[in-house]
Amino acid sequence: MSYFAVKGGKKLRGEVSVCGAKNSVLPILAATLLNAGENVIHNCTDLRDVSSAIKILKHLGCGIKREGKTLTVDSGTIKRYDVPEELMREMRSSVIFLGPVIARCGKARLFAPGGCELGPRPIDLHLSALSKLGVKIEYRGGEIICEAGDMRGEDIVLGFPSVGATENIMLAATACRGTTRIINAAREPEIGDLQEFLKKTGAVISGSGTNEITVVGGKTDKRVEHTVLPDRIEAATYLCAVAACGGEVLIKNAVPEHIKTVISCLSDAGCGIEINKNGVLVKSDGRLKSMGKIVTMPYPGFPTDAQAQLMAAACKASGTTVFCENIFENRFRHTSELLRMGADIKVSGKTACVTGTDTLFGASVGCTDLRGGAALAIAAMSARGESKIRDIYHIDRGYERMEEAYSSLGADIERKE
Ligand code: EPZ
Repeated sequence: MSYFAVKGGKKLRGEVSVCGAKNSVLPILAATLLNAGENVIHNCTDLRDVSSAIKILKHLGCGIKREGKTLTVDSGTIKRYDVPEELMREMRSSVIFLGPVIARCGKARLFAPGGCELGPRPIDLHLSALSKLGVKIEYRGGEIICEAGDMRGEDIVLGFPSVGATENIMLAATACRGTTRIINAAREPEIGDLQEFLKKTGAVISGSGTNEITVVGGKTDKRVEHTVLPDRIEAATYLCAVAACGGEVLIKNAVPEHIKTVISCLSDAGCGIEINKNGVLVKSDGRLKSMGKIVTMPYPGFPTDAQAQLMAAACKASGTTVFCENIFENRFRHTSELLRMGADIKVSGKTACVTGTDTLFGASVGCTDLRGGAALAIAAMSARGESKIRDIYHIDRGYERMEEAYSSLGADIERKE
């Protein structure tokens, strides 16, 4: 199994560009089923989760061609409406295919993705919304069997602004007669990117970025060419890495608006962060102050997907930083590995209390999940001595060759077999 060999203590200097957002390209790939035609998607990062989504599209009958960062999906011929369990289990967010398969085929047989490293991943909000839109759902033994009855637009009130449920409803509602309003919709930037993609297919949809999205059912048969927005969590990961290691890095195409809570926390911790026409310039001497209290919330609050990476930086910040993880039930698994590197972290329920220490020490650690793995890479790069980071397949799900990106900034990090 491959692993990262890291020699810590190097400052990070130079400039980088962030890739296309994983959490945008995944729902957009599912949406390519809607137009029964050609979809050209630019800035499509080469990630394990993207490969999993491509496998599902191919299984359903789509033609796929990749040329560098451009993916062309031809959904003209769909041969099936079922996705086998092993394909569904490769990626937790594969439930996003439910809405578009029903919209395109009028029926669907998929499997619930099941729990993951972050805790149980229920899909009750997805299923209750789809049934309100007129989809007949049988859910047994993890298999979801759907038959689209007379699908009519409805007002759907989400008990929680779930990103995936918002996306699934947007996708299914394009096939409903009449208007669907999603109330208490998720407001993440990736929802906006999906809305722009759907509008290019001919969908009549508005409201992304607010807590109410409106979809008027109708034709979605136009050819689409779309460029995926930059990955705000990859940008946040770079910010946390420079904060922890010290140095000066220009993140060329980050969207400052999308990472303003992370920028604010790191500025409070003593980093110099300048937003200019070239991007986001972050400077740090590697000696941070406590960041106070970090509370993860739905967008525009502090992103849960950057919690682990910021914690890695907080491990060496003077004073105490308290993290409250409100989105997932089990998103502190990286703390046990950070403790092996000398961190001082006390976890109680959804709160983790980090007391900064002068130094972290290289160690042999294992990734527990995607963002936890990124946190271990940051900690190892900022530690004294050598680290071995195992199970880096977690990291490969959401970062394209992370070791190359950070080596280009001066880190001593290598992928080894
Ligand atoms: C998306 O996951 C992202 N994944 C996650 O990023 C991200 O952490 C999450 O949104 C929150 O921002 C993709 O976009 C592919 P949710 P999703 O539905 O849609 C509960 C990463 O690291 N819930 O907003 O699954 C759920 O259990 C990944 O890139 C229900 O209870 O997130 C969780 O506690 C990790 N019932 C909370 O809501 C449901 O039907 C947030 O889930 C659905 C969700």
